[in-house]
Amino acid sequence: MATEMALVKPISKFSTSSPIFSNSRYGKFTTVRMSSTSQSTTKAAAKGGKKAAKTAIKETLLAPRFYTTDFDEMEALFNTEINKNLNQSEFEALLQEFKTDYNQTHFVRNKEFKEAADKIDGPLRQIFVEFLERSCTAEFSGFLLYKELGRRLKKTNPVVAEIFSLMSRDEARHAGFLNKGLSDFNLALDLGFLTKARKYTFFKPKFIFYATYLSEKIGYWRYITIYRHLKENPEYQCYPIFKYFENWCQDENRHGDFFSALLKAQPQFLNDWKAKLWSRFFCLSVYVTMYLNDCQRTAFYEGIGLNTKEFDMHVIIETNRTTARIFPAVLDVENPEFKRRLDKMVEINEQLLAVGETSDIPLVKNLKRIPLIAALASELLAAYLMPPIESGSVDFAEFEPQLVY
Ligand SMILES: [Fe+2]
Ligand SMILES: [Fe+2]
Repeated sequence: MATEMALVKPISKFSTSSPIFSNSRYGKFTTVRMSSTSQSTTKAAAKGGKKAAKTAIKETLLAPRFYTTDFDEMEALFNTEINKNLNQSEFEALLQEFKTDYNQTHFVRNKEFKEAADKIDGPLRQIFVEFLERSCTAEFSGFLLYKELGRRLKKTNPVVAEIFSLMSRDEARHAGFLNKGLSDFNLALDLGFLTKARKYTFFKPKFIFYATYLSEKIGYWRYITIYRHLKENPEYQCYPIFKYFENWCQDENRHGDFFSALLKAQPQFLNDWKAKLWSRFFCLSVYVTMYLNDCQRTAFYEGIGLNTKEFDMHVIIETNRTTARIFPAVLDVENPEFKRRLDKMVEINEQLLAVGETSDIPLVKNLKRIPLIAALASELLAAYLMPPIESGSVDFAEFEPQLVY
């Protein structure tokens, strides 16, 4: 697809020239060319393999994704001649905030990192590495998308374009910081390789807006919740990266606020029955994906003293409340039925994973999967059809970007 290629080219150039992503600085470490789901490679590499470990990219439904979109449609949406709803003064104000660059000097490491990493051993070490990989991949995915949007919108709307470029600066910092975290475990993600080898999911612009708004806000709530928990329970502070989450999550919050300004400028994505259906759909996919992912990794959350399901429900409820300020409809996640359905999905997902672990031939595995997938789909549909909460701000003027603490 042309749009995918366009996305890949400039980035691969960046990834080989930027000090943030250059692997040469990890010369003595193992460079890992893999997706965030290929644990076996991590294990092999962590055991001390000196050569770059090369493996096929494993795509799963729950792995962090890379996105691409219809850039021509994006250009039309941000053309001030065509779209009279674009409030340029609001975007100018947001641009000034991004230019202020509050976190310019925030991401500075110290020797505590390596010392802490050396003390993490046993199963927690592996799960920690996976957490760093997945987070790095997710941050890097934001970097790629925003970088390309910054490039493509330069002519049509230079202010919006510059904001995208500055957001890609933030995401590059986040991904780079996580990748340096991997170096404490003698590993490094080969982001240049990932850029080229990973499949890109195509979303139309309006879906990019819903999905990225939600992922920024859910990212904010995840980081701030972990930060606050570890501040109150310092005995679980086993790796210093979490101490950086307080300022870090404000970047994500700002990114989310920019997307709500973008959505406000496109009222057609917010004000009809289709917008309500899509809003609920994206809320459901984002919440379910996180819940199923995290429930497969309870060792990580328990390792830092959290109860996985309680943590996730807190994040879902807070994200949903924030999202209700802009989306025209959200899910009733505080209804106990919603959590019951999520827990049922976790059970079914565990059975699906167990089928994958058996020694059956692929055909038998697939036959065993059919009723489970049907059960999962029916739980998803039932959760989707629960009576929603009508939301959104009718008077958009009162919605202003703000810091949430
Ligand atoms: Fe980020
Ligand atoms: Fe972000």
